[in-house]
Amino acid sequence: MNHFDSRNGALCAEDVPLEKIAHEVGTPTYVYSSATLNRHLSVVRDAFGTVPHVLCYSVKANSTLGVLKLVVKHGSGFDIVSGGELARVLEAGGDPKRIVFSGVGKREDEMVAALRAGILMFNVESAEELALLDRVGRRAKKKAPFSLRVNPDVDPRTHKYIATGLKSSKFGVPFEEAVALYRASRKMKGLQAMGVDCHIGSQLTDAKPFAQALSRVAGLYTTLKAEGFPLTHLDVGGGLGVTYTDEKPPGLAAYSQVVVDSTRHTGATVVLEPGRVIVANAGVLITRVLFNKKTKTKHFLIVDAGMNDLMRPALYEAHHDIVAVKPRRGAKTTVEIVGPVCESTDVLGKARSVPPLVAGDLLAIKTAGAYGMSMASTYNSRPRPAEVLVDGKRWRVIRKREALQDLWRGETP
Ligand code: LLP
Repeated sequence: MNHFDSRNGALCAEDVPLEKIAHEVGTPTYVYSSATLNRHLSVVRDAFGTVPHVLCYSVKANSTLGVLKLVVKHGSGFDIVSGGELARVLEAGGDPKRIVFSGVGKREDEMVAALRAGILMFNVESAEELALLDRVGRRAKKKAPFSLRVNPDVDPRTHKYIATGLKSSKFGVPFEEAVALYRASRKMKGLQAMGVDCHIGSQLTDAKPFAQALSRVAGLYTTLKAEGFPLTHLDVGGGLGVTYTDEKPPGLAAYSQVVVDSTRHTGATVVLEPGRVIVANAGVLITRVLFNKKTKTKHFLIVDAGMNDLMRPALYEAHHDIVAVKPRRGAKTTVEIVGPVCESTDVLGKARSVPPLVAGDLLAIKTAGAYGMSMASTYNSRPRPAEVLVDGKRWRVIRKREALQDLWRGETP
């Protein structure tokens, strides 16, 4: 469910016509709906209402301060993967006690900053990382709270670039090695084992892989508890998919049922790291048509947003619905919706059936709130888009469009 609907033939974000935003802020611009974001956060929280849990929104999905602030106001926590994300969350007023720090390649300075901030726990992904965290803890005369991210070796049945829980993946500690590492951690004075963690992939549309992974992880948790480890948290990661076209991911009720059924017997506090399911449907990218270009074989619709602004189609051949903000009457034609970037992969929509569109018309690329702006770059020296947050009738720019001077900030000619 989202709050982007047509009113009198014009697409709106809540009560604000997208045309108005485009007129005042220009294009390309990401537009987010607060009502949608708040709703998703509440639905996740309520779905887990019957068990102790910590909701840690996965910052990588959308790390803009205005979005993080909304998560803070909701009372939720954060899943971070870098010192940069830590700094963003703290800047947005996030509660360090509700931060979990994931990622395969944490640097020492990032560990130090997170320990100093007093985060809930580190999700550690290798023996060497555990040894470094121990040193960081001892030096600070603290016990760094940690979980091991274990790799449960299940096939999440998602795009190969966003699958993380297979044996062949760089993520997590091999399942068979986990117990030995926990035992070794007993001798490390700078550490405090707190839980067990896993994350098997993103855009999962089937509940089975979650169930398989969680039953393994819950089993490990129980074994470790029996050995006397004072564990309290079981981190089930993120990964729940959304509908971009015709995918039918499990709803939150079904997902929470799987998580609760697989973990309740452990008595652990469940840590959730959802990203996409919170923000994807809460954002669109608006772009203007620059040109129609017809060749012998194709009709290209060239727009002013490109793969640098929204990388998902180029990187994962991901599908995003693209609609006219104010559709004109007339016969539909099939077009390739492409950006201005000098790469053949800069295709935002392949073979799309669209109403007549002319230069200056606006399009909305839907379900673009997750992994859109957070993955944007300035490739081809294109300033990154502006971002707008709508709340009912009100709206505000939460990130200015980058200026040309921003493109070479820090450079020395
Ligand atoms: N926790 C961990 C440890 C993760 O690695 C991720 C995502 C999440 C949570 C959040 O997963 P979500 O609920 O959003 O599925 N750029 C790709 C997605 C990469 C996901 C990376 N990890 C895309 O645009 O599809």
